[in-house]
Amino acid sequence: MPQSVRTTELPSDEPVPVLGQGTWHMGESARGRKNEVAALRAGLDLGLTLIDTAEMYANGGAEEIVAEAVAGRRDEVFIVSKVLPENATERGTVAACERSLKRLKTDRIDLYLLHWRGSPPLAGTLKAFAALKRDGKIRHWGVSNFDMSDTEELWALPGGRDCASNQVLYNLRRRGIEHDVLPWYRQHGVPIMAYSPVEQGRLLDHRALAGVAKTHDATPAQVALAWAMRQDGVIAIPKASSPDHVRANRAAHDLTLTAEDLAAIDQAFPPPKGPTPLEIL
Ligand SMILES: NC(=O)c1ccc[n+]([C@@H]2O[C@H](COP(=O)([O-])OP(=O)(O)OC[C@H]3O[C@@H](n4cnc5c(N)ncnc54)[C@H](OP(=O)(O)O)[C@@H]3O)[C@@H](O)[C@H]2O)c1
Repeated sequence: MPQSVRTTELPSDEPVPVLGQGTWHMGESARGRKNEVAALRAGLDLGLTLIDTAEMYANGGAEEIVAEAVAGRRDEVFIVSKVLPENATERGTVAACERSLKRLKTDRIDLYLLHWRGSPPLAGTLKAFAALKRDGKIRHWGVSNFDMSDTEELWALPGGRDCASNQVLYNLRRRGIEHDVLPWYRQHGVPIMAYSPVEQGRLLDHRALAGVAKTHDATPAQVALAWAMRQDGVIAIPKASSPDHVRANRAAHDLTLTAEDLAAIDQAFPPPKGPTPLEIL
């Protein structure tokens, strides 16, 4: 019997699962559609009820896949979507959100993120987020790809401290946030969402990772995920387009890494020695 999926809390105290499902590159071809919907639904059945998408993915096509996957079970799901920076003016954000709601076939997005910093002033985006929240179209808002200087700017703006999450690149090869962004957000009770937690598959043939995986009868992908979820306040959102990968990712949740494993990992993928510019994919 698998353990139920652990949760972490948003600043509002609402629990969210520490393992969710990504959707980048879903919805790009009619051929993949059936498997993608089946994978997301298999994830929901296993308790991976947080689904991350964005208006950018397949130009809205990924949001349509999500709509199909959550049909008839919307209330079980915590949907995260994102506004592109080029749309993130005060009026543009509201319009983008309404387009996303239509594609998602829902009346609310649970967490709406600014995908990355662009030229529209942040203050206007925040006003739109506040209006969308007041109107019930989004339940929480947050940011993505925000480094410490973006975060300081955000915190100084009216309403900026209502931010519910920062979604950033975090995996064994991209540990820079451990120096500043991660401790800062944990200290402020704002969860980090770790995107590309298996580095889009590029770290899976690493020898050290394979060695740790072998001792647990697990795969390198599972070790990378268990590692990303090892500390409180981090939500990992791997993307898997087959039910088999989804089941493997769900099993990674129940894998506990030992101090010895973590030491071997630190040796192969050293933690940052000082400030490191935030990396973006
Ligand atoms: N905010 C941002 O700027 C940003 C940027 C990047 C990503 N994201 C979000 O984060 C999500 C995850 O990141 P990502 O898609 O870039 O990369 P990722 O989750 O690190 O890697 C996805 C790749 O790993 C494979 N995979 C998944 N589970 C596996 C397993 N158990 N064993 C072996 N391979 C496995 C997938 O294959 P299959 O598809 O064949 O299963 C896919 O090729 C995205 O989908 C998106 O929702 C956000």
